[in-house]
Amino acid sequence: MRPDPWAKPKASAAVAIMPEPGAAPLSQQIRRDPRWADLERLRSSHRMMDAVIDEVSGRRIRIGDHWLADFASCNYLGFDLDEEIMESVVGPIKKWGTHPSWSRLLGSPRLYCDIEEQLTELLGAPDTLVLPTITHIHSSVIPVLAGDGWVFVDARAHKTIYDGAAIAAGQGAVMRRFRANDAGDLERQLRQAPPGASRLICMDGVNSMSGNAPDLPAFARLAREHDALLYVDDAHGFGVIGEHPTAAAPYGHRGNSLVRHVDESYENLVLVAGFSKSYSSLLAFIALPTWLKNHLKVAAPPYLYSGPSPTASLATVLAGFKVNAERGDEIRARLFRKTAQVLETVHHLGLPTPNRSGLPIIEIPVGRADQIDAVGEFLFDRGIYVTLAAYPLVPRREVGFRIQVTAANADDEIEQLCAVLAELVDRFELAPVCERAV
Ligand SMILES: Cc1ncc(COP(=O)(O)O)c(C=O)c1O
Repeated sequence: MRPDPWAKPKASAAVAIMPEPGAAPLSQQIRRDPRWADLERLRSSHRMMDAVIDEVSGRRIRIGDHWLADFASCNYLGFDLDEEIMESVVGPIKKWGTHPSWSRLLGSPRLYCDIEEQLTELLGAPDTLVLPTITHIHSSVIPVLAGDGWVFVDARAHKTIYDGAAIAAGQGAVMRRFRANDAGDLERQLRQAPPGASRLICMDGVNSMSGNAPDLPAFARLAREHDALLYVDDAHGFGVIGEHPTAAAPYGHRGNSLVRHVDESYENLVLVAGFSKSYSSLLAFIALPTWLKNHLKVAAPPYLYSGPSPTASLATVLAGFKVNAERGDEIRARLFRKTAQVLETVHHLGLPTPNRSGLPIIEIPVGRADQIDAVGEFLFDRGIYVTLAAYPLVPRREVGFRIQVTAANADDEIEQLCAVLAELVDRFELAPVCERAV
């Protein structure tokens, strides 16, 4: 008889996993991967990591006695602090309770249908499916799409894409890495897949560290020529960039993501992104054909087994759509202006940054990995909060810090940041301007 996978373990089975008498404590039994050493040191010693935020006031945060201007937030449009969006949660919570708690396969409050309908229209996509997070989507959808075929991952793709591809490899797919943003290298590797094998290409849209986007039309063309599916994670582009960019509005309009920004189609392309950045809400989506959406409803574990997003997040997504339609382009114009001011200072000071896009993600490598602690302390002391980009979050030669600008950063915060960057250049010897693929 086959064992029942849901059965409670018998007492004897539970005893079998107890440590032997006299065995080393669990902390010594777990072999620590030395790759995490730098990050572990920073986490335990640096004020800019694993911090407890005591209070926020606009885009300023208080940590203990220190008030700092926050340039580590991904709330690019400032929706987290928008009065209309904040007030939107009460009505739906009174109507639906705080959390639906059915798995989506059992049932979804109507709010979900409203979100998917409006999102599909905004993206101009064939259909959309929302799930709690992008991490959930990568870990569950990439293995379904890859099957026992070949999955090609951009070398600079987000860690959560790699994890999804690794799960796919564990389930029988062949995983290959291609050089970052290098369509030529990808094409060589696509040719190696045997005839008949399915091909899935996974990459970032706007890259979370460089702030640059790949040449999407080139990759989409390759996917179509090789009968492959292109899977793009545009977590940082959605909400910020959109259709019909012009010289006066370089980010484009409506914030409907990289695909529309470069006027691409969804043929052989699925787009993944989330609301946890620009829309300040816990929800994510995949834009896809309806037949695939229906297949994922039974084949992607989060739709069947995970709890859904809280009602407040569903409400703030819907309110976000309304604000985006009414004021989004004006907010993006403000975000562009603030970002341009910071980038102008960065270039004027000769600071290195890979950012060539003008988007609000500005990474500054510090040159020597051992300078990161001191640079971080220097910024903290001067009231600037950023993301420390330590190894292995970035390769060693790119260790530094990442500035993220949001529309909610006040002008005096931008000026403070620019003044502190000028001081930083005097104090530290930073890396030469770094040129790299993404
Ligand atoms: C490119 C990219 N993909 C995925 C994620 C994870 O998103 P989520 O929090 O929705 O799982 C992030 C988060 O920072 C990201 O930057």
